[in-house]
Order: sequence, then C-alpha cells, then structure tokens
Amino acid sequence: MLVLVTLTDSVEPVFALVFSVVPELLSSPFNHSIMKRAREKGLLEVNLVNLRDHTTYARAQVDDYQFGGGAGMLMMCEPLAKAIEELSKDRTYDEIIFLTPDGELFNQKMANSLSLKENLLLICGHYKGIDQRVIDTFVTKEISIGDYVLTGGETAAIVLIDSITRLLPGVLGDSESALTDSFQTDSGFDAPQYTRPSEFRGMKVPEILLSGNHRKVSDWKMETGKAKFKKVKKKK
Ligand code: ADE
Repeated sequence: MLVLVTLTDSVEPVFALVFSVVPELLSSPFNHSIMKRAREKGLLEVNLVNLRDHTTYARAQVDDYQFGGGAGMLMMCEPLAKAIEELSKDRTYDEIIFLTPDGELFNQKMANSLSLKENLLLICGHYKGIDQRVIDTFVTKEISIGDYVLTGGETAAIVLIDSITRLLPGVLGDSESALTDSFQTDSGFDAPQYTRPSEFRGMKVPEILLSGNHRKVSDWKMETGKAKFKKVKKKK
C-alpha cells in the first residue's frame, strides 16, 4: 500500500485521495481528533492508494514468491512502480519512504525534518516486504518505527504521519506545546505533570508547581525531566 501525504500551510482546500488494500487500517486515525482537524483546516492531506488498482496481473495479484526461496511473499515490482510513476505525474514527492523494520530508526529529529516537506509518499510493506529493485529505483528513505516487526507498514505510517502532523503550524491550539514535548526540550523528556485535585489519596502535587513562581517552576520541570530521561535511558 502507498500512502501519499501532502503537508501544507496553505489555506487552500487540500485534495485527498485514499486507495488501499485494507483502507480500514488507515482511515480511522485520520478521521478523528487532531489529525481530523488538521485535515479539515487544510493543513494535512492524506490520500490512500490501493496497489491492487495498479496491477495488470490476474486476480489483482500484487505479491509473489521470493527468488532463491525463503518464507513469505514479496510485493512485486510492477504494481508499485506503476503506481509511483503514475502518481508522480501529479506532484513531485520530496521523499519516497518505505516503512520497514530494516530502516533507519524514526525519532523526533526525523519528524521535525519531515514536517518541513510538502509531499511525502509512503510505501507500507506487506507480506515479507518489497522487491529490492523498487527500493533501488524509487525509495529515498527506509524508516523503521522500532526494533520489532509489525504485520504491515500501515501502523508505522500512522505513527509517522501523526508525529509530523502535530508539528505543523496551526495544528495544535497552543503553539508552544509541540516544542515543549518530550524529546524537544533540552532534558529529553517532559517533567511529570499534575492537574486538580492538588491532593489525591494522600499524594500531593509538588509544592513548587503551586508556588506561582514561573522561573522556579521552569527550572524544576527541566531538572525532573532530565532526571526521568536519565533513569529511563539508563535501563537500556
Ligand atoms: N513494517 C513492519 N515492521 C515495521 C517497523 N518496525 N517499522 C516500520 N515498518 C514496519
């Protein structure tokens, strides 16, 4: 499956086209909450492309056995190549990304960098992956969302698009909040956060957060965020 993502800060209405072998897997996350609002505001456009619509093989075949043997089917060259070439006529893609467990590990820095692009084309692998010749010809980045294997790249595509969307200017109500996220601050992690009541089952909110002293609160957040980052990362 291919996922085409258009990121824009234009106020023009944005074109959305969604093709999918399993569209249900991808449609829901973009139809709720912040990603839905981003689309409604014309800041994000997600089009899904069903690869089966681009195959000339009988019974909409898109996968085949691997040369040299090996478990699992591989997505064939032609449907992918045809789809990429056809859709590249409409717009130029800044990156053609293949979501794969073998890719570069996704992080906030990559999300920041991708959020500055206009057009992204995402390829969600299924079965055992895709033919290497498609990667060699078209793919500009191979990205993994973690050192584990998912049933397909769709979940990874959702993670990628989600993390990018919240960085787009105008998506989050409070323009500061994406910048103060975990991994965006110097400390690495957000400090622990509390809301009302100030005491819950005998556990009190740290006094400093109720002090009204913004400078001290900011220092405290930096310190505790740092401490949490150290503790969590040390466990590795
Ligand atoms: N497809 C299957 N597993 C994946 C992973 N960990 N990251 C990205 N795409 C994948």
